[in-house]
Amino acid sequence: MSAAAPPRAFVVGHPIAHSRSPLIHGHWLAAHGIPGSYERLDVAPEAFPDFVRGLPASGYRGGNVTLPHKEAAFALADTLTARAERIGAVNTLVVEPDGRIRGDNTDAPGFCAHLDQALGADWPARGTAVVLGAGGAARAIVAGLAERGVPRILVANRTPARAEAVAALAPGIGAALAWDDLPSALEAAGLLVNTTSLGMKGQPPLDLDLAPLPARAAVADIVYAPLETALLAAARERGLAAADGLGMLLHQAVPGFEAWFGLRPTVTPALRDRIVADLAP
Ligand code: ATR
Repeated sequence: MSAAAPPRAFVVGHPIAHSRSPLIHGHWLAAHGIPGSYERLDVAPEAFPDFVRGLPASGYRGGNVTLPHKEAAFALADTLTARAERIGAVNTLVVEPDGRIRGDNTDAPGFCAHLDQALGADWPARGTAVVLGAGGAARAIVAGLAERGVPRILVANRTPARAEAVAALAPGIGAALAWDDLPSALEAAGLLVNTTSLGMKGQPPLDLDLAPLPARAAVADIVYAPLETALLAAARERGLAAADGLGMLLHQAVPGFEAWFGLRPTVTPALRDRIVADLAP
């Protein structure tokens, strides 16, 4: 690769047509007049190891990794950030100048940066966080909350064993919570986060009474289609602060863009509006 070659990055998944990442990075490339590209790549699981091994010679500076490759990327990266190591999944690959491939997980800082913007940077002081769900998104979010100093993290999941495993990512402050015990846990919560797919278009709604939440509590959903889930509507109805799922998607993109294109971009209302317009039915 010549030093003057325009920087190139990608998002890789299977399928990949639905990914909004090209819109996000394309917006920033255009806004900053960077003559680079961000490409959508569909790579099947059986071809993914060769894809990663070929990156140093490909001319790509790196890219985002989405379903179903996040665990494979974790296993294939040459080095891992401490955060990716803890979470066990990689959503961002960076080809280092020496050809080694670094794996990072930017979902955790992305979620926290989103809350900083939506709720104010003092959100960890609201108190105990109750996290619903125990998939990959929950792992990243629990790690992020712990890193930011949330005093206690309770994880409730349909399959309780998975909740135990996710709570263990926050040693000393994390614990699994039985779904039936949610009402009493909500009484002492400062933050409620839905990481399940409940409430997503085509899925059943999340049926949870928010009445026990104290007035200081904020509610965050990672579902962004629809943007205004029944959960967030119920939170607003109660006068609680609410943070929608689009923010995490936008903010998780920031560290990758900075690593590949050399400039730290900002999540602006104009970017948000661009993606909201794309999500509109
Ligand atoms: P992701 O990696 O995006 O977080 P995932 O690993 O498929 O996705 O996790 C989805 C989460 O939504 C899980 O916590 C799942 O609960 P289980 O661990 O019991 O499967 C939760 N979930 C999905 N459908 C659900 C439903 N109908 N009721 C309750 N929880 C549900």
